[in-house]
Amino acid sequence: MTGVIPSDLEGIYIRNDPNPLFKPSSYNYPLEGDGMLHAFYFDGSKVSYRNRFIWTRGLKYEFYEGKALPELKFRNYANTNIFAHGGVILGLYEAGSPYQITPELETVGKWDFQGSIEQSMSAHPKLDPQTGELHFFRYSLLNSPYLTYYVANRQGEIIRTLPIDLPQPALLHDMAITENYVIFFHFPLVFEMSRAMKCSSPFVWKPELGTKIILVDRHDWTRSPVSLETDAFWLWHFMNAYEEKGLIMIDFVYYPQIKLESTLEAILATKGHLHRFTVNADTKTIKSQPLDDRFVDLPTIDLRQTGNLYQFGYAPYIDLQLTAQKKIPNYYPEIIQYNISKQTSKVHRFKPGCYGGEAVFVPQKNGDSELDGYVMTLVFDENKQKSDLVILDPANFEAEPIATIHLPVRIPSGFHGNWIPKDAINFTTV
Ligand SMILES: [Fe+2]
Repeated sequence: MTGVIPSDLEGIYIRNDPNPLFKPSSYNYPLEGDGMLHAFYFDGSKVSYRNRFIWTRGLKYEFYEGKALPELKFRNYANTNIFAHGGVILGLYEAGSPYQITPELETVGKWDFQGSIEQSMSAHPKLDPQTGELHFFRYSLLNSPYLTYYVANRQGEIIRTLPIDLPQPALLHDMAITENYVIFFHFPLVFEMSRAMKCSSPFVWKPELGTKIILVDRHDWTRSPVSLETDAFWLWHFMNAYEEKGLIMIDFVYYPQIKLESTLEAILATKGHLHRFTVNADTKTIKSQPLDDRFVDLPTIDLRQTGNLYQFGYAPYIDLQLTAQKKIPNYYPEIIQYNISKQTSKVHRFKPGCYGGEAVFVPQKNGDSELDGYVMTLVFDENKQKSDLVILDPANFEAEPIATIHLPVRIPSGFHGNWIPKDAINFTTV
């Protein structure tokens, strides 16, 4: 370790990533790969690390056969996110049921909220910090309703289920909440069964259909969702949304289009940037405004500000030149700290040959401000072929890390993770 681990860090940082146990016959769908969890257990001044696969049903079949099975290509890999709510830790994959995981990363089995949800749960639930409610959805590619919105209370019991009509089935990856609204974007990335049968990417981009913004009233359950039409665009992730002076601000990573293939060509052709929509729900008007032009994704915030006015957001910068040169995607040589209210930014750049990922904000125990905390990201060092967990100071973001935990192993570039405080889940250190 370099530096000192802050003594008030007590909890687990867990990150999920796709990590195929067996070499796949092909790899052309970005959500493929068996979910592997990487957990860092902080107990005051100590930290320990453990990793485990999520033992999904598909992975068990392949393990039994000792090879990748092409017929299981479009399965639930549980590889996208990891989230704790109501005392349960869930490994998430948007097109499949969540898997319950113990704090020690053992797979318990599928979780369906006491029989209250069917088949799948989105990988980006939103926790309302005021009410403790968890908002999430499922999308169906085969049967209507193509979108269903759920709310679970603080204890993890489902208290609202709302089917939402969509004109055609489509992939939705994320959602946003504000004080009064739940926000879905419906994209013209259309599922076609004929393509799925050929074992290639089953989605087609149809820009002529446009993108729809769907606003659901959180409090008046009798009110039908409102739909606003826009030109076609795509997002993977929202940064945050909030309401101010009767308007809804929606911050997200805007892509003019999406090519849903894991090829270098597709990645180089679709550059995203941080963007804001200012929506007037009464007049159904949208003001569209870029907040930056650098290519970023995997945006995060201090989750205590979810759905509320916020000042800071974080996103790793994607270096397309490096990606083209190395012919491998996901090179994040720096993390950008956006000051959203002042429209400025700071950059933490890693040493040459070192690449970060999603940056997770961890609040300090006794601090309310968005600068009272720590920013964690996993960094791969291509020179050593090993990874570090880096802890940055949000109040001094460009400075050397507060602590760098050097791992004896390499952790692949991954998707999403979360901080689980010790008072939320009982756990024993390794
Ligand atoms: Fe995601």
